[in-house]
Amino acid sequence: MKLLILNGPNLNLLGIREPEIYGNKTYSDLCKLIEAHAADICVEAEIRQTNHEGLLVDWIQGARGCFDGIVLNPAAYTHTSVALLDAVLAAQVPTVEVHISDLKQREPFRRISYVREACLATVAGKGLTGYLEAMDLLKQILNR
Ligand code: DQA
Repeated sequence: MKLLILNGPNLNLLGIREPEIYGNKTYSDLCKLIEAHAADICVEAEIRQTNHEGLLVDWIQGARGCFDGIVLNPAAYTHTSVALLDAVLAAQVPTVEVHISDLKQREPFRRISYVREACLATVAGKGLTGYLEAMDLLKQILNR
């Protein structure tokens, strides 16, 4: 089973950006956590990050036929991007949305997620562990 783990803008700055919200662990720590968990649950995981919306669209489209599932943290594009929603709908690759922080406890504009309606589930407010939970969920769903 092959999972694509996609991260949107500013997630490369984990550990530096707003540690009171996103924690002290770096993006490289996140990648190591995901890789270790992938090995534990016997899935392949490819991890990517970009600050560019169009590249996320390209990667979601390109996942069709290449990956069994997507774990997607669109970061700020969550709250603005119909293009990402359309990409997930078009690609038809089972996708779980992840957010490190608890969007319900933050500014009102963060409660809107365009991509959510195309996703099988949303995991939010669980820190970096949320990515691992999303991987477990996808594995369960794909094994059904
Ligand atoms: C985020 C939440 C978004 O509102 C924010 O723009 C991010 C990260 C999260 O993981 O909590 O960059 O997606």
